[in-house]
Amino acid sequence: MEASTSAPLYAVLGRPVAHSRSPFIHEAFARQCGLAVRYERVLCPADGFEATLRAFAAGGGCGVNVTVPFKFDALALAPRRSDRARLAGAANVLRLDDAEGWFADNTDGVGLVRDIEQGAAVALAGKRVLLLGAGGAAAGALGPLVAAGPAELVLANRTPARAEALVAAHAAWADRHRVRLAAQALHECGERFDVVVNATSSSLANAAVPVPARVLAPGALALDMMYGPAAAPFLRWAEAAGAVARDGLGMLVQQAAEAFLVFRGVLPEAAPVLAALREQLAQEAVQASPPPQAPPASAAPPASGSP
Ligand code: ATR
Repeated sequence: MEASTSAPLYAVLGRPVAHSRSPFIHEAFARQCGLAVRYERVLCPADGFEATLRAFAAGGGCGVNVTVPFKFDALALAPRRSDRARLAGAANVLRLDDAEGWFADNTDGVGLVRDIEQGAAVALAGKRVLLLGAGGAAAGALGPLVAAGPAELVLANRTPARAEALVAAHAAWADRHRVRLAAQALHECGERFDVVVNATSSSLANAAVPVPARVLAPGALALDMMYGPAAAPFLRWAEAAGAVARDGLGMLVQQAAEAFLVFRGVLPEAAPVLAALREQLAQEAVQASPPPQAPPASAAPPASGSP
């Protein structure tokens, strides 16, 4: 469907934002649902998220996906917030409602859980899950992972105090879902987990996967929230240990599908859009002639399973 100037206007706001796949994904969802959409990338100045958002709304914008580093600002400026955004302490979706202003939501964790359960066909109920990292990416994932009902969820982080703080913020939520939730240091996080999710940014710092392969049970699912070159070290590590390795592209499409539901009231089908996106990335990889000197992974833009 053609995007006419009267079509609802959305955007992804972040810094950087040029790499974002959100326009491709949201335009594909709109076509699938027979809806018109205009979807832009908007680069925000480092200290200019709120002003950029205001200008976007003044220009007719009615919703945004928010990416790093503005997810905390997004939550803070919205007068209305979903429970899952409140629990995460961050928002990746803002919808402008006529009389009431901005509504903040967080679809990252739901996207992750759907990709694990539908994309990778692994039911989380009763499983032992290890979540690595305690930054914004892990914070968005933790609530929905708990709600999926694993028997045990261990949150391990290089800085244990951050993991402890996140666990404390989710303790009542874990009790309600009868999930054993614990914070651990990376070197003593346990072994033989059914599902290991990497929400650290260690690969962007060219660092090794920060846990030993014994954290993986035989045939475990090992999912990195990154995709593309940033995910490669973790995926190689997981495959070498006999795990089922999965990147964050499915999570990216699923969180966008949930965001589309928040924006438009329809939940689109993620699988065909994920297949199209994988094909596009594969074509781009073929077309890109290898540079004489490959840039270090840290020079690559963050390509993660959130917008
Ligand atoms: P994001 O919003 O992407 O989660 P972040 O808030 O900066 O980004 O968090 C990055 C996460 O990766 C943190 O959990 C960080 O650990 P610390 O809390 O100890 O900083 C983790 N991380 C980054 N580099 C790492 C490395 N080399 N080894 C282990 N963990 C690392």
